[in-house]
Amino acid sequence: MSKIFAANWKMYLNEEESIDFISKMSSNKDLFADKKVMIFPSHTALSSVKNALQIMPNIKVGMQDCDMKLSGAVTGSNSISSIPVDSCIVGHSERRIIFKEDEKVVKKKLENSLQAVETTILCIGETLDEKNQDKTFEVVDKQLSILPSALNGKKLIIAYEPVWAIGTGLVASNDYIAEVLSYINNAIKSLYSDEVLSEINLFYGGSVDESSVESLSTIPLLDGFLIGSASADFKKFENILKKMR
Ligand code: PGA
Repeated sequence: MSKIFAANWKMYLNEEESIDFISKMSSNKDLFADKKVMIFPSHTALSSVKNALQIMPNIKVGMQDCDMKLSGAVTGSNSISSIPVDSCIVGHSERRIIFKEDEKVVKKKLENSLQAVETTILCIGETLDEKNQDKTFEVVDKQLSILPSALNGKKLIIAYEPVWAIGTGLVASNDYIAEVLSYINNAIKSLYSDEVLSEINLFYGGSVDESSVESLSTIPLLDGFLIGSASADFKKFENILKKMR
């Protein structure tokens, strides 16, 4: 199966820069035409990016996060129903750490997202301290404990992103990632039927770039990548995709 590339632009690009990125994509249609790409712009650029991508319908667009509520008095936040999108990321470690989101919060967001959009990305992963204390599997178990008993026909991506590899330039080793993905795979196998499992993909994220993507793509069970900083730089993102031709 060809890999899926999810570009998490975080707060890197403003609206103008986001549109500029999309216009570079459309002048490079051949590269993007047969690729599975998902773009997660900042909320303020979402609408413009969606419009600009109408000419490339194979590219999916999503929200980087959603609120626990669908509407109400939540100043500055964004409901999953605020704009129609294909996908939404929940449980990103930056939300868990900076915004102190615990499992209860992530669970509610996961429920909202699974209801509203086609594909939800649930991010999980241990911090460096947890890794050093051999608690990786314990953390994975806890973060997977919020999975619902049914997906109701929706797609779920579980993105394994060790926190110590995000934005640090440190990529986890292939063996380490393979071991954790296999653990995750066994955990979800005990939860879901084969039919549901076929709707679940496993990703890796954490300092993926053009120098690491080829080797990482050989990891068993890996369906795609969640890419942060290297996805917000057109040249770097283009080079990543070129490596995967
Ligand atoms: P990074 O971010 O590629 O910049 O490490 C990955 C992520 O946070 O999803």
